Amino acid sequence: MGREGDEEERESKEEDEDDFHTVDDDEEEEDDDDEELETEAVKSEKWKKYYSSKQRILLVGEGDFSFSLCLARAFGSAHNLVATSLDYQEHIAKKYSNGIGNVRELEERGCLVLYGVDAKEMSQHFFLRTQRFDRIVYNFPHVGFLFRENSYCQIQLNKRLVKGFLKNAKVLLRKEGGEIHVTHKEGDPYNKWELVKKAEKIGLVLHQVMPFRKNDYPGYDNKRAHGNLSDASFPLGDS
Ligand SMILES: C[S@@+](CC[C@H](N)C(=O)[O-])C[C@H]1O[C@@H](n2cnc3c(N)ncnc32)[C@H](O)[C@@H]1O
Repeated sequence: MGREGDEEERESKEEDEDDFHTVDDDEEEEDDDDEELETEAVKSEKWKKYYSSKQRILLVGEGDFSFSLCLARAFGSAHNLVATSLDYQEHIAKKYSNGIGNVRELEERGCLVLYGVDAKEMSQHFFLRTQRFDRIVYNFPHVGFLFRENSYCQIQLNKRLVKGFLKNAKVLLRKEGGEIHVTHKEGDPYNKWELVKKAEKIGLVLHQVMPFRKNDYPGYDNKRAHGNLSDASFPLGDS
């Protein structure tokens, strides 16, 4: 399934509680808490738009991890999520005002966060290659502003990223009912990425094209992720 948005002007919590435990009690209680959260997520299915707490979801190319955190908060647990970024923690700290806070909350909620994951090679990743997912999501793939957005070189680089992502995602997808979701902007030059054609060439089938509305994902802050304005959002236009 592909979801379309647009991207031309890319340039363009916690409660206080007094608790008194011994260290051992703490550890046992943590294990119990984890199990409870896991069973809770499976027992009472929760939905956030297209995503369910029962699905095992891999998030790729995260910026400040706010999309992953939105799902984790909606599900009440993040044990079913693996959230990844190409960046390492030190870069996330430099690029995004909320990045480290978001990662911390995700981990507290049980999400596995992986750094330095290249979408074009992720099927070879030492951990990911042992896993299979119901949903693999990459919102607004983009290599960064190396050339002008509509120049041949920039388009080629973005095409290579998207193709590499799709190839690798296909390997990590569960055969039964698995879906890859790519959110991207519409119009020129994004239609030149030939996303659907690329997907079909590697044996994927377009299931649906759905509008993407940022408001459906409270807390999600789409990030430019590159350059001096990496912490800034970009307009999504008709999405
Ligand atoms: C426009 S940003 C979107 C970030 C985030 N998905 C969001 O919606 O806010 C593009 C993202 O793609 C990531 N990226 C670029 N090349 C990548 C690659 N080869 N593998 C994984 N991520 C990549 C960048 O680090 C950046 O986070």
